[in-house]
Amino acid sequence: MIEKTKIAVFASGSGSNFVAIEEACRNGELNAEIAVLITDKPEAYVAERARELNIPISVFSPKAYGSREKYEEAILQKLEEDQVEWLILAGYMRLIGHTLLDAFPSRIVNIHPSLLPSFPGKAAIEQAIEHGVKVTGVTVHLVDEGMDTGPILAQEAVRVVDGDVNQTAEAIHAVEHVLYKETLHRLFTNQ
Ligand code: GAR
Repeated sequence: MIEKTKIAVFASGSGSNFVAIEEACRNGELNAEIAVLITDKPEAYVAERARELNIPISVFSPKAYGSREKYEEAILQKLEEDQVEWLILAGYMRLIGHTLLDAFPSRIVNIHPSLLPSFPGKAAIEQAIEHGVKVTGVTVHLVDEGMDTGPILAQEAVRVVDGDVNQTAEAIHAVEHVLYKETLHRLFTNQ
């Protein structure tokens, strides 16, 4: 059997993408294993979900370190201990700095709820609706030093539902949960 790819999921939010990835690892759709959940927000719902699923959690609070470099060095040490191969961002609302980018060249992936380059940053679904677009979507991309920038790996369009944030968010999340695992599968199998 081909060895499982060891991944770390980085998340700061409710964790629905984390759960979808964990499920895909468990049922074999993804030949991968979540070595650790890295979070900067111990109170986030994703941490509760990781505990329920018995996935190890490592909390790193940026405030405890003097700089982004020091913060990322601490994370990197943990990732090296766990022999992590890929970093998977799933609602991790921080920029990635050179320490992690250099340690994982072209091996950091992000998902974003818009058709990038439109509506990067926070509240992408709200931004799209405020602009009155009729179609928005989901992007999976490799991470560089920018905010939601880097080579695009996959995109899927989602219709805005009645100009409504909640209904549109629901449709977007449903697409995210499928598109992320499919894209990661292609990456991990060199397709
Ligand atoms: C997802 O919609 C993800 O695309 C977005 O955060 C949400 C996390 O949801 N990421 C970004 O906006 C990155 N700029 P989840 O915690 O339920 O997975």
